[in-house]
Amino acid sequence: MSSLQHKISELLDDLEDYFRNQRELYGNDLYTEKDLDAIWKSPQEIKGRALDDLYREVHDCQRCGLASKRKNVVFGDGNPDACIMLIGEAPGREEDIQGKVFVGDAGKLLTNILAAIQLEREDIYITNILKCRPPQNRDPQQDEQSLCSCHLFRQIEIIRPRFILALGRIAGQFLTGESDSNMNELRNRVFTVRGAQLMVTYHPAALLRNTELKRPTWEDVQKFQKLYEQ
Ligand code: URA
Ligand code: URA
Repeated sequence: MSSLQHKISELLDDLEDYFRNQRELYGNDLYTEKDLDAIWKSPQEIKGRALDDLYREVHDCQRCGLASKRKNVVFGDGNPDACIMLIGEAPGREEDIQGKVFVGDAGKLLTNILAAIQLEREDIYITNILKCRPPQNRDPQQDEQSLCSCHLFRQIEIIRPRFILALGRIAGQFLTGESDSNMNELRNRVFTVRGAQLMVTYHPAALLRNTELKRPTWEDVQKFQKLYEQ
């Protein structure tokens, strides 16, 4: 036998063993690929793959006018099986250039805020309401938010976080549906949104502009920590 034939014969023996074991373990039922995934793969792998598939769909999105102005779609980053999700507003200049969430100055501050409540960015999943940068970082428009939100809602469906922290008024209003509430009306409350408990705090970019917001933000994130540690 040539070495190739030998290898193939070994491979066939291994496959036969594999299927025999499968039958002993699970009977004669035919398993779909999805079922087998659920048996062999961790939720992190399954969700990671689903997010990769979604990213491939979204990376060339043309649903709204921001498509022609962006450099990159900024999809989201972190642990696909996270129980905590953070949702910001929209990518800024640096995020648009790099195609990554919260990598600019606001992102650095966000990393520090998370560290203060013993969270690392790899523990959680971070994304934005909008996946593309609005020109000059203007506020996202209503139509942009509703056109883009299908991507966010699918991310939430895949990750199924138990806790969501919304960063800033825009994300807070959109996710709670309270489009007329201001920050003081949105903070210090626990909402139920898409199966998760959601709280709202200031956006880190707002803290960079106004340092007086640091203390209330610190109080908010401590309350959020209490909620998810319960
Ligand atoms: N601000 C946001 O809301 N999201 C980012 O990704 C960066 C800045
Ligand atoms: N520590 C602070 O002082 N402020 C924050 O926003 C977070 C941590």
